[in-house]
Amino acid sequence: MTPINAQAMEKAHILVVGDVMLDRYWYGAVERISPEAPVPVVKVLREEERLGGSANVAFNVASLGAHASLLSVVGEDPASHSLEQLILQTGIEPFLGRDAELKTTVKLRIIGRQQQLIRADFEDLPKTEVLASQTRQFSELIASQQAVLFSDYGKGGLAHIQDMIELARAHHRPILIDPKGSDYSKYQNASVITPNRAELQDVVGPWQSEAELEHKAQALRQALNLGAVLVTRSEEGMSLFDSEGSSHVKAQAREVFDVTGAGDTVIATLACLLACGLTLREALPWANRAGGLVVGKFGTATLTFEELFA
Ligand SMILES: Nc1ncnc2c1ncn2[C@@H]1O[C@H](COP(=O)(O)OP(=O)(O)OP(=O)(O)O)[C@@H](O)[C@H]1O
Ligand SMILES: [Mg+2]
Repeated sequence: MTPINAQAMEKAHILVVGDVMLDRYWYGAVERISPEAPVPVVKVLREEERLGGSANVAFNVASLGAHASLLSVVGEDPASHSLEQLILQTGIEPFLGRDAELKTTVKLRIIGRQQQLIRADFEDLPKTEVLASQTRQFSELIASQQAVLFSDYGKGGLAHIQDMIELARAHHRPILIDPKGSDYSKYQNASVITPNRAELQDVVGPWQSEAELEHKAQALRQALNLGAVLVTRSEEGMSLFDSEGSSHVKAQAREVFDVTGAGDTVIATLACLLACGLTLREALPWANRAGGLVVGKFGTATLTFEELFA
């Protein structure tokens, strides 16, 4: 594997664009069943908040030692201020468009007796004016970035992704996209998209063999004029389909504790390495190593430069 140096990483600027979320956890004790309905009553003892969605992707970029800018839309509610505080503490540079009528996306998990009892989601769609201002902000930022990463969580923050892709292309910047949904036409002309197995299946249908997967991934790549399709395959590792053909790497995890967020770590690692000047094929084994390491960690979903490149 090509050696990477920390100095090159510090100089890399990555622009992360997409839906930010606040992951909120309420931990408590369950002592009785409610008299109002057959549900447990949780006495909340502790609260925890973490960066979610594209903010977690930017956190992964910053944790690897590159400079992360985060462009996204939030409301003007308390959750948006918690999110901004966490973003600043993490060393990410925020560019948050505010829409007073928007509810900042929050996923609240209530945990009692070591298990999640319920998850409540707060979210709605951002308005067009604030989304248009995101494109203006993007056009001001793009010249100073070495790579652009779109993290689509399907919350409406990327309504103008096609205009942003065109701007990034005009500046010859690598464009990485973690896709969502069943219509990928909006991702046309990107350098690489990174669906997981289920996401790819939603778009191209199931496959029965490696040959069929390759055929479907290449057809998608050509139809959308993508540089590459990188399929992340959990315990099967990952497969890259590009103009030269395909390249596969096996999963590396020794022990698996927590698989959530592995996809975020993978695409953040790829963006950092492309920003340092590596090709996708050179970056692939590192991104796979990153995925394998992060699923073995408990409680955090990021890696440091030293952990990945030691
Ligand atoms: N169970 C596992 N065993 C080994 N490696 C894993 C496992 N799950 C994930 N990985 C590693 O992490 C990479 C990304 O995982 P995956 O394909 O599950 O992404 P994802 O579904 O987008 O994740 P998420 O959306 O939860 O962030 C895999 O390609 C692999 O390298
Ligand atoms: Mg994912």
